[in-house]
Amino acid sequence: MLFVFVASHLLNHALGIISLATMEAGREVFLAVWRNPVSSIVLIASLLIHFGLVLYTMFRRRTLRMPVREALQIVAGLAIPPLLAVHVIGTWGLNQNFGVTDLYAYVVMAIWVFEPVEGLKQTIALLIAWFHGCVGLHYWLKLKPWYPKVGGTLFALAMLWPAFALFGFASAGREVTILMHDQEWLDAVRAAIGGPDEAGVSWALAAIRNSYWGLAVILVAVLALRWIRMTMRRASELTLSYPDGCALTVRRGISILEASRDAGIPHASVCGGRGRCSTCRVRVGNGKEHLPPPGEDEARVLKRVGAAANVRLACQIRPINDLTVTPLLPAAAQASDGHARPAFIEGSEREIAIMFVDIRAFTQMAEKKLPYDTVFVLNQYFRTMGTAVEEAGGRLDKFIGDGVMALFGMDGDAAEGCRSALIAARAMSASLQDLNANLKEDLDEAIRIGIGIHAGPVIVGEMGYAAVRSVTAVGDAVNTASRLETANKDFKSQLVVSAEVVERAAVDLSQFPLQEISIRGRDEQVAVHVLDDATKLPEIAAAKAA
Ligand code: FES
Repeated sequence: MLFVFVASHLLNHALGIISLATMEAGREVFLAVWRNPVSSIVLIASLLIHFGLVLYTMFRRRTLRMPVREALQIVAGLAIPPLLAVHVIGTWGLNQNFGVTDLYAYVVMAIWVFEPVEGLKQTIALLIAWFHGCVGLHYWLKLKPWYPKVGGTLFALAMLWPAFALFGFASAGREVTILMHDQEWLDAVRAAIGGPDEAGVSWALAAIRNSYWGLAVILVAVLALRWIRMTMRRASELTLSYPDGCALTVRRGISILEASRDAGIPHASVCGGRGRCSTCRVRVGNGKEHLPPPGEDEARVLKRVGAAANVRLACQIRPINDLTVTPLLPAAAQASDGHARPAFIEGSEREIAIMFVDIRAFTQMAEKKLPYDTVFVLNQYFRTMGTAVEEAGGRLDKFIGDGVMALFGMDGDAAEGCRSALIAARAMSASLQDLNANLKEDLDEAIRIGIGIHAGPVIVGEMGYAAVRSVTAVGDAVNTASRLETANKDFKSQLVVSAEVVERAAVDLSQFPLQEISIRGRDEQVAVHVLDDATKLPEIAAAKAA
């Protein structure tokens, strides 16, 4: 509505290019449309709504930081009323209250001849109002499918429309300047305008002054209300930070699980937030000191899963301060993920024994066999090795090609783990002899293996992604164990075990002299015992099962 009004007003100005008389004739039509009771009410309502929306936008905004385009739109929306106040009061106001006929000749004389500075202000106001409307329309229409086709034409119109209006006004200004030398014309115009008298002028000046004050008070009031609102809001909000950098502003009293769901962040919750499944658990970081301690139910569930002290149930805690949270289970976690699990799953440093086992010359062996036979032999081999590891109390970590990685001492101490690893190595060697005997018909030559065992500090935890997650260990001791397994190739042996393992296991391997070997990636040499046959290991009392 406002844009149509401004466009028709500018069109009326443009008629000045033809003549002042044409401009005045156009004004009759313009007033017939816009200065009747219905359109006046609609226009005033539109103005108030438009100005109110600008103020409301400012009031609602969380921050006054915004892109330049947005800031310009808001500043323009705020600047138009004070810039146009003089024009509106001087024409429509005096017309309504003092019967002044606001002919173009009257306006042109006032701001072209007598108050050119005011004329400049009106020109600026006109351009701001016009381009403010154009930008608003552009962002409204630009998503319409037809808009790109007509965008260029509309842009040309947007530039030419005010240009013609200004040309028209300047042309009328020059015509009035000449006509003013004609006293008869001047008298006739003054009579037609009908004032304003002194009272009208005082009223207009007061109205202009009051409008400035009124607008300033409204603006300050809105900013003050906004400040109060933001202060109250900040007092009732907090920030939840997630590991991917996502930060949610949430109201106090909401649970972390509810906050994740509201924001569309996938979060496991098998029991639906009833505090039973533990799948929603999160590690809490910065701000955890402000959390209330776990309630009875939450504490029971956390104890059941062996959770660390910085782990809480997302469905049970309602933070009151900013908090950093890390969901510990994938969003697709199942009920079984909430079952009791050892504490080391969350990640911890532990001293354990690590074993690597590999088949010697497996590639050549596989090349001579059908794939089916290779799979059959490998599965027999894995079963044999896996059984030896588990019976000795170790944990199978992974099968890598034809290799096996196993961890010992995960639930006990390192000494126990070292004994278990040696027991497993002896059992593997013995079982391999049985396996070779059983597969005699299927194998061109007996399976030979190399075993490497080392012990030391490692990081143990559940690692991986989505469904491919498992408990494993990483660290220098793991790499060393792997290198010891490879060293069997050089020694043409079956077992290379570090002196570290032997000492911790308190086993006498003095008949296998200590040797110092270099390990790739390590500065110091590693003292090892080398056995051509792991069944030569002494019998060791069975270690505790994992
Ligand atoms: S959703 Fe099950 S314990 Fe939180």
